[in-house]
Amino acid sequence: MSTFHTPVMAKECINLLNLRAGKVYVDATTGGGGHSAAMLNAQPQIQLYCFDQDAQAITETEQMLRAKINKDTSSEQAKVELIKANFVNMRTELALRKVKGIDGILFDLGVSSFQLDNAERGFSFDKNAPLDMRMDTAQDYSAYNAVNELDVQQLARIFKEYSDELNATRIARAIEKSEKPISSTKELAKIIESVVGVGTKESLKSKVRVFQALRIFVNHELEYLELAILDAINMLNPGGRIVVLSYHSLEDRIVKQVFRLAAQDCVCPPSIMICMCNHRSQLQILTKTPHIAGTDELKSNPRSRSAKLRAAEKIGKETTKPKSSKYGSKDAAKGEK
Ligand SMILES: C[S@@+](CC[C@H](N)C(=O)[O-])C[C@H]1O[C@@H](n2cnc3c(N)ncnc32)[C@H](O)[C@@H]1O
Repeated sequence: MSTFHTPVMAKECINLLNLRAGKVYVDATTGGGGHSAAMLNAQPQIQLYCFDQDAQAITETEQMLRAKINKDTSSEQAKVELIKANFVNMRTELALRKVKGIDGILFDLGVSSFQLDNAERGFSFDKNAPLDMRMDTAQDYSAYNAVNELDVQQLARIFKEYSDELNATRIARAIEKSEKPISSTKELAKIIESVVGVGTKESLKSKVRVFQALRIFVNHELEYLELAILDAINMLNPGGRIVVLSYHSLEDRIVKQVFRLAAQDCVCPPSIMICMCNHRSQLQILTKTPHIAGTDELKSNPRSRSAKLRAAEKIGKETTKPKSSKYGSKDAAKGEK
């Protein structure tokens, strides 16, 4: 991998995962393997399944982790399997491996440094490359399809909803006016500049936002996140932990809402006097407000600046709450931001 990805808030993630010998863990986004390696360092005697939808990440991280296990005698008992799959398919992939429950899972969302820094992948507007942005290069649909096939309303909606781009409609119109297909990152960057100007702070921000919105759309990042977190919560054994690092307010909102709902007993609308849903709390939230990186990490790892960490524990037999009335239920989420 051309660039090493420094894992964000690694120590805190490991503490929150509460790794226990002989148990089963998942790194849903192994990327460059920084968090996976930290998990093995903290507790070598685990079964670890490492997912990534990026084939290059899987190949290279597999080599790195195998070398680590071979070198490090304390890791001898670690059982590690790398799985090239989208985490939205984690449940099926684990079922194929006869894994019935897991004891902890980490999601470190978004793209990794090696994806951003690899010009050919087309994630960055400051590196000329084909307009691609697929994390999974086996996927057919890329940013090229989005930019050249969607209409003005659809593109403007993506730029607005996923990145709050102020000039969303004007940029979408400029894209549609292009006489030939837009096939490179440079061409798209120039079109954005034709609307918002060149060399200004605003122009830079617009390019960041438009590229980010396209990446989120092309990779179905938000839809898959919600489904995968719900699956992960269901797969957790009692006492198991889920830890999520997000870098975008929409991601964090999904994590917060899914956790909050899973930590609640009744989810009936307030107008219903007696609980009809029989929903029972599955989670205890461990992070009342999202944790953020400390000053030293903020200085040394710029990627940590936007990171928000949330964690929760699956309620076990011994901690399962008694059936509560509808009006007792709100306590579960009390204090959550
Ligand atoms: C921020 S990086 C993870 C870095 C990693 N924690 C480390 O320490 O090196 C995110 C990784 O998640 C992968 N990814 C993002 N969305 C995914 C999804 N839906 N399914 C599987 N992998 C995904 C990306 O390909 C990328 O390699």
